[in-house]
Amino acid sequence: MFKILEAKFLAPGIKRFVLEAPRIARKQKPGQFVILRIYEEGERIPVTIENSDPERGTLNIVVQSIGKTTHLLNSLNAGDSILDVVGPLGKPSEIEKFGTVVVVGGGVGTAMAYPTAAALKRAGNRVISIVGARNKELVILEREMREVSDELLITTDDGSYVEKGFVTDKLRQLMQNGTKIDLVLAVGPIVMMKAVSEMTRKDGIRTMVSLNPIMIDGTGMCGGCRVLIDGKSEFACVDGPEFDAHKVNFEVLVQRNSMYRDAEQKSLTDFKECQHAAQPAEACVPGGR
Ligand code: NAD
Ligand code: FES
Repeated sequence: MFKILEAKFLAPGIKRFVLEAPRIARKQKPGQFVILRIYEEGERIPVTIENSDPERGTLNIVVQSIGKTTHLLNSLNAGDSILDVVGPLGKPSEIEKFGTVVVVGGGVGTAMAYPTAAALKRAGNRVISIVGARNKELVILEREMREVSDELLITTDDGSYVEKGFVTDKLRQLMQNGTKIDLVLAVGPIVMMKAVSEMTRKDGIRTMVSLNPIMIDGTGMCGGCRVLIDGKSEFACVDGPEFDAHKVNFEVLVQRNSMYRDAEQKSLTDFKECQHAAQPAEACVPGGR
């Protein structure tokens, strides 16, 4: 069991948990993630590591309520426990002195980008971060990103905070005003990562994206996280999650991620109906939590 020490919403539907997980906290490197399961019969889901404190033995994860499991997870609080947390998983981000690096965080993807941005800054890079969200309330980790960036640019889709637009508008401006960019890291929704990739491909700017396909075992055995990279099958859990954006087949990624959409929607609807009937969250899953 992994005890939740702190739990706080960063934005509507986006919660940060501080977990007691000393072994994972000691090993975790930027770019890696964990897979967790809340209760015995529950599904296993990949979750973003936002930070860790090896001395305190704690791991920070950030979770967006999307399906049943993430809604259930975000109903937990300090003092509750999570059944299992496996990790750290995946290859760490490549950290070296590249020169000028642009880190693009789209929505909750910012939490995944943050530790890598911090490590790139520590490695001596000039870090320009672009953080985008649908609206002001959904901008997360602004202070943290500012602390590890030489420059932080913010966009909101509706213009309710800083500048109206998409993260790609800011990236385009940087490219057009002649900023020499040595590396772009983009983490966020697939459409955003694809748009960034198309934009940088033309100028041959090296671009990495962090993919989060459906995952089950996280060890390269089940094939659930198969992605098509440069025409070849790779597993995001062991070969990624970061890949060269210009080699990623985003169409296949979209297709595979939507394979279980109907079942996921039904499961979420049933869960919400159960909760609506004033049942506590644990009464709405088989075996409780
Ligand atoms: P969102 O839909 O609110 O989008 C966030 C930002 O992405 C927008 O504000 C905009 O700036 C940009 N964007 C969106 N559509 C775009 C387009 N067509 N062109 C250019 N830019 C665009 O994001 P959200 O609801 O916070 O969802 C975040 C997504 O990130 C989820 O789909 C989640 O699966 C994914 N995610 C990925 C990882 C990872 O490791 N890759 C980690 C966590 C979350
Ligand atoms: Fe099973 Fe990657 S999650 S192979």
